[in-house]
Amino acid sequence: MNSTKALDFLAARNHGSDLHTRTCTMPADRATCGMNDVMIETVDLHRSYRIGRKSIEVLHGIDLKIHRGERVFLCGPSGAGKTTLLYTLAGLERPERGSVHIDGTDLYALGRREQARFRNQRIGYIFQNYHLLPELTALENVAVPGAIAGKDTMELAMKALERVGLGDRSDHLPAELSGGEQQRVAIARAIVNEPKVLFADEPTGNLDSKNSAEIMGILLDLATEHQVTLVVVTHDQNLAKAGDRTLIIKDGSIH
Ligand SMILES: Nc1ncnc2c1ncn2[C@@H]1O[C@H](COP(=O)(O)OP(=O)(O)O)[C@@H](O)[C@H]1O
Ligand SMILES: [Mg+2]
Repeated sequence: MNSTKALDFLAARNHGSDLHTRTCTMPADRATCGMNDVMIETVDLHRSYRIGRKSIEVLHGIDLKIHRGERVFLCGPSGAGKTTLLYTLAGLERPERGSVHIDGTDLYALGRREQARFRNQRIGYIFQNYHLLPELTALENVAVPGAIAGKDTMELAMKALERVGLGDRSDHLPAELSGGEQQRVAIARAIVNEPKVLFADEPTGNLDSKNSAEIMGILLDLATEHQVTLVVVTHDQNLAKAGDRTLIIKDGSIH
């Protein structure tokens, strides 16, 4: 994995910005590089689902603090609420109770439009099953979040694709790519708007061990190079060891 090849598109577009100027080498600089800053904070987070007449509470009042630049793995049995928690942290699913602050912003206090803009610009999300648009090429898929933000992003999208090693597949449709390649496209799409926080839901769940290691390497490198705060759901406790902290979610609570 090429750790030294920085996300040059991030740097080029961020002179003087947080992402660019705060870049540091982990772990030596970590203590002086914002580890005391809270990037994600939840207070008393509750989320339930209604099935028929029954309501099942999936998150039972989760209090969580994740620091800027921290790489956190979220583990737990199937059905424990990992995806629900990640959705709630990312602004994709409103909790019934409690709050989520991302970089000091109260996510669910924002209006619908502001929240969508905040997500688009600050949060990258890698879905469990890639969620690529099948009729768009790899490059076009990666360009979508930039287009939503009103940017001319084909060049940035190409750089993001190159960053994940897929520059030579830019005009392929998702159906013409392997699972590992589709996941790389999904990562490129998640980073194209230079997010401060990156969420990944079982990003290696459908991949063989070689591809899993490569994908995890890319995510960890991205976090390290640009102090992106990383939250990754995984079943694989071995992969989780590469992070700074592992959270276990069980019965709707963090252990
Ligand atoms: N949209 C939904 N409607 C009803 N129940 C749901 C919905 N999404 C998830 N659940 C239920 O919530 C629980 C937690 O789901 P999830 O967060 O997907 O778990 P995990 O990602 O840890 O496997 C499960 O029991 C699941 O069936
Ligand atoms: Mg899940």
